[in-house]
Parts: sequence; structure tokens; C-alpha cells
Amino acid sequence: MKISVIGAGNVGASCALEVAQREIATEVILLDIKENYANGKALDMWQTASVDGFDTRVIGVTNDYARTANSEIVIITSGKPRSPGMSRDDLIATNADIVRSVTEQVVKHSPKAIIIIVSNPLDVMSYCAFLTAKIDSKRVFGMAGILDTARYRMFLSEALNVSHKEIQAILMGGHGDTMVPLPRYTTVAGIPVTELIEKDKLDAIIDRTKKGGGEIVNLLGTSAWYAPAAAAAQMAEAIIKDQKRVFPVCAWLQGEYGLKDIYLGVPVVLGKNGIEKIIELKLNEEETASLHSSAKAVKEVMDVYDKMTV
Ligand code: NAI
Ligand code: 2OP
Repeated sequence: MKISVIGAGNVGASCALEVAQREIATEVILLDIKENYANGKALDMWQTASVDGFDTRVIGVTNDYARTANSEIVIITSGKPRSPGMSRDDLIATNADIVRSVTEQVVKHSPKAIIIIVSNPLDVMSYCAFLTAKIDSKRVFGMAGILDTARYRMFLSEALNVSHKEIQAILMGGHGDTMVPLPRYTTVAGIPVTELIEKDKLDAIIDRTKKGGGEIVNLLGTSAWYAPAAAAAQMAEAIIKDQKRVFPVCAWLQGEYGLKDIYLGVPVVLGKNGIEKIIELKLNEEETASLHSSAKAVKEVMDVYDKMTV
């Protein structure tokens, strides 16, 4: 069982370590274009095995896709991160070239792999990988919703002074300021969150969640990596163990929620075949309007991508 992680930067390296520690693959291949970068990081990581007690073999390679051959899952994190003042969408030109060339190599060497995209702008990079890979959309999708939901759950758990383990929630839409948190589908041990927190406090948490990526960019000068890496590893685990977990995932929509030909965050069932089902919630009018407005924002960036490639 092999999982490859492309890009050995902040997200990729942390993700490779998370995957190794979860022992969901016998081999984790970490690949980067920068000479010896992944090799060095993987060697360091592999040496933690005797301390942490995992059996996964972590191997780093410099652009050697032959070593990733026949991976069950490939997680693509290669690309530039955001810096202060930059939106995720500003990254499109640079990262589209990277994601396209990486995806070509990935499908050539691992034609049966499930591909998880992390590179930003997430929704459009998922679209770019899908167009390049030319495989079933159930096997190409993006990670963002688990991260956005994780931020929302942590902020709520702090405000309510309850364990994050009690908080069930789902966020939909694009990975950007137009994301759609759904208080109606947020519960604390089954209790609707709206019964436990004042509206203005909940609104402030929703606003902080929407800007959660930017908050970290402003603190660090680059984007987050621990939580994004953990989120991508959790998706890989659900697939490898065929867990049928329900997660918000950036998926290719073909009429669901009244949206077509767009990658957008929606709840799905993740199992050994990738996206096994897209769950259609009965959104109310206001929620539907927010989702469609988020879809409009994503479509605009997809159009930029389409124009770049003609
Ligand atoms: P980073 O700069 O630390 O690492 C990126 C790595 O990609 C570098 O090591 C670079 O050498 C490598 N790379 C560049 N071109 C490559 C190619 N053609 N082949 C192989 N490797 C290549 O960046 P970081 O912080 O790891 O972020 C990676 C991406 O993930 C960014 O686009 C960032 O915006 C995105 N991101 C997405 C999140 C999400 O929720 N979907 C969350 C956090 C980051
Ligand atoms: C994040 O949300 C920037 O997408 C990155 O942290």
C-alpha cells in the first residue's frame, strides 16, 4: 500500500508525517522538484519512526515519479502558498502550471490512484487536476471543507467551553471568504448550536472561520500547514480503511444543489472508491442563495482558468 505526497513544503511534509504516523500505508513517497529537499525531509521523518513507533517507510525523491508508481492515493500539495495581502485566487497562474504538470505525471505512473488536491486556489486547482487527469471525478477531489469545519468547531468549542469532540458541523461552498457555514446543521452532542450561543457570538465565529486562512497568513507571512495536513491525511485514512466517513469535500457537481460543471465543497461519503456519494442536504432559501453565490465566485475563477488555457 503506497501513498504519495507531491510537494515537500510545509503542508506536504506535515501531511507525509501524519500519513506515516497513522500507519495507513506501508510506504509514503514524498516528492519535490527542489533537489534533495524531499529526500532530506523524508529521511528526518523516517528516523522519528523508532521514537514514535510507526512502521511506515517514508522515502523522499527529487521529481522521480517512477518511485510513486502504483500509488493508491496521491496528495498534491505542490504550489505557492499565500502571502499577506494575497487571496487564494491570486495564485492561479503559477499554481495551475504546477498542478497540471504534476497531475500528468501522477496519472501516467499511478493510473488507478485517487487524487486529493490541496494546492490553492483549491476549487479551481481541483478542476485543473480533473481536466488534466481525465479520470472519473469520484477519484479527483479537493481538501478544504474538513479544514474550514475544523476551524469552526475549534472556535465554537472554545466559546462554549465544551470539547470539540461534541461538535458536529458542516461547511459548504468554495474555499474562500464565500464559504457557507450552516448553523442549522451544527450541533453540540445533538443539541442545535443556536440553543447554546447568542446570535452575535455565532456570527462572529462564522466570520472568523471564513477568514481563518487569512488570520494565519497574517501571523506567519505564509499559510497554515498543520491543520491542512491533518485534514488531507484524514481523507486518505477514510479511503484506505473504507470508512464511509461523511466529510465536506470539494467535488465535481453535475446537477446536485442545482449546480453543474463546478468543483465546490459539499458533504460526501468517502470510502475505498473515493467519493461514493454526494449528500444533498435540504437547504433553505437563504442557505441555497449563499451556496449559489459562493458557486458564482468559484465559477469566475474557473473562467479565468479556462481563458488561460485556450
Ligand atoms: P510551500 O511553499 O511550503 O511548499 C510547496 C512545495 O511545492 C515546495 O517545496 C516546492 O518546491 C514544491 N513544488 C513547486 N513546484 C513543484 C513541482 N512542479 N513539482 C513538485 N513540487 C513542486 O507551500 P505550502 O505551505 O506547503 O502550501 C502548498 C499549497 O497548499 C499552496 O498552494 C497553499 O496555498 C495550499 N494550501 C491549501 C490549503 C487548503 O485548505 N486546501 C491549506 C493550506 C495550504
Ligand atoms: C488556508 O485556509 C490558505 O487555504 C489556506 O489556510
